[in-house]
Amino acid sequence: MDILRTENLSKIYGVGDKKVNALDNLSLEIMKGEFVSIIGPSGSGKSTLLHMLGSVDRPTEGKIYIEGTDISSMNETESALFRRKNIGIIYQAYNLIPTLNVEKNISLPMLLDGVKPDKEEFHKIIEMLGLNERLNHFPNQLSGGQQQRVAIGRALIYKPSIILADEPTGNLDSKNSKIILELLKRSNKEYNQTIIMITHDEEVALSADRMLTIIDGKVVSDKVISHENY
Ligand SMILES: Nc1ncnc2c1ncn2[C@@H]1O[C@H](COP(=O)(O)OP(=O)(O)OP(=O)(O)O)[C@@H](O)[C@H]1O
Ligand SMILES: [Mg+2]
Repeated sequence: MDILRTENLSKIYGVGDKKVNALDNLSLEIMKGEFVSIIGPSGSGKSTLLHMLGSVDRPTEGKIYIEGTDISSMNETESALFRRKNIGIIYQAYNLIPTLNVEKNISLPMLLDGVKPDKEEFHKIIEMLGLNERLNHFPNQLSGGQQQRVAIGRALIYKPSIILADEPTGNLDSKNSKIILELLKRSNKEYNQTIIMITHDEEVALSADRMLTIIDGKVVSDKVISHENY
């Protein structure tokens, strides 16, 4: 079964002569456990698509189903709750809370719901991210790669079935990019998570199972990537 499906998704920003058709009747189906990369020129609608899938913003027209639930018809409170539990989002600029230490930044989605993270689960994630020694540090005391690992921890804490990542390696050097990519792959395998990752880097894109190319708000190519020769 598909975990995520869009039907004729359109997003129009602005009005009059400022109107931008960022997504144009985009229909898409993604299966549970798939690791999908999205590439395409700047301004082609990649981030817009991710914002719609993560219900950060609403489509102008069309529907979005996540595990059969139509999220496009939810109200704000419903969609915020649904998102926190089911979808983890990772941004290029990390978006950590500067006044919270690493432990609290990672636990944030649960703290917002008044839930305490399970100790064992928490330590498993910290271990995997290599952040054991940094729990009491604040974001400005961390390197970019470490900050992105904290953001991944925050996206993983609820073990959401879907991770949306908007250029997660965009601010990192090649060594740190590799580490982040490996972590996403591990999380994809270990939790059978569905991952959708935007990237400008073709090599990063080719490490996914499937690669979508978006141009002018439309999917113009949809390729399965074989890793047999690696
Ligand atoms: N809030 C907004 N208001 C008006 N126009 C917007 C808004 N957000 C995006 N756009 C426009 O929508 C189009 C798609 O933008 P989007 O951010 O989705 O592109 P992108 O593919 O993510 O580009 P990049 O690779 O540069 O991040 C662009 O033409 C952009 O200018
Ligand atoms: Mg973008």
